[in-house]
Amino acid sequence: MSDSPIAAAVGANAGGDVIRAEKLAKTYAEGKMRTPVFDGLELVVAAGETVAIVGASGAGKSTLLHLLGGLDTPTAGEVYVTGQKMSSLSNSARGQLRNRALGFVYQFHHLLPEFTALENVMMPVMLGGVDVKIAAQRAKALLEKVGLGHRIEHKPGELSGGERQRAAVARALVNQPACVLGDEPTGNLDERTAATVFELMLELNRAQQTSLVLVTHDRRLARKLDRVLELHEGRLRELAIADV
Ligand SMILES: Nc1ncnc2c1ncn2[C@@H]1O[C@H](COP(=O)(O)OP(=O)(O)OP(=O)(O)O)[C@@H](O)[C@H]1O
Ligand SMILES: [Mg+2]
Repeated sequence: MSDSPIAAAVGANAGGDVIRAEKLAKTYAEGKMRTPVFDGLELVVAAGETVAIVGASGAGKSTLLHLLGGLDTPTAGEVYVTGQKMSSLSNSARGQLRNRALGFVYQFHHLLPEFTALENVMMPVMLGGVDVKIAAQRAKALLEKVGLGHRIEHKPGELSGGERQRAAVARALVNQPACVLGDEPTGNLDERTAATVFELMLELNRAQQTSLVLVTHDRRLARKLDRVLELHEGRLRELAIADV
């Protein structure tokens, strides 16, 4: 591990909570229109824990993930990622923490179209200042693990939907983040491909001891995680597995 303050903070929090949201509130405001989404939301995700977030369309699931990932700022409350208070970091420090400690997978893959699968997966590693050769080795090893060893030179447009999502999963995990945040990562895939990509994510997360916060509409997939939380009227409540 390098001696940067961010890396040290991540190390210092090893074994602790990877995500903590305290009294989180978000109201979108555009002109005179105000859309309150939640107020007083609490969430703790432990190291290595996998958590599903379910809830009706418009309940605020994507909004919550954006706040947890530091992609948007809350109206009130705090988010801590590996013990670091997001609001107290500069934009660049927040960006570094995001790159080092979090991985993101979305419904749409968001791979860069001009770059090969290998280059897309190398990118977060190189952003962390790692030498290009080592970045390529790490990216290639992970692409092999997700079954894309034979497709590393393909650009996203030359991959199938399931292959693109597997490349996106590899990109999210390549820096061995403390937590992956997934917003319907299998939502665009047919049932069988969705199940394969989901199992792959779970397997890699477990192998790396990475936590997972997964937004999904698919209750069958949600049930396979350690906890299922429902976002309802601005609050998270834990569902018993029998009720999922
Ligand atoms: N940029 C924005 N400005 C204003 N309102 C917004 C904005 N983004 C989202 N909203 C509103 O906030 C609420 C929560 O949206 P969000 O996208 O978080 O829901 P969601 O639970 O992810 O829904 P879905 O399951 O359909 O993806 C919705 O009522 C939405 O209309
Ligand atoms: Mg959403």
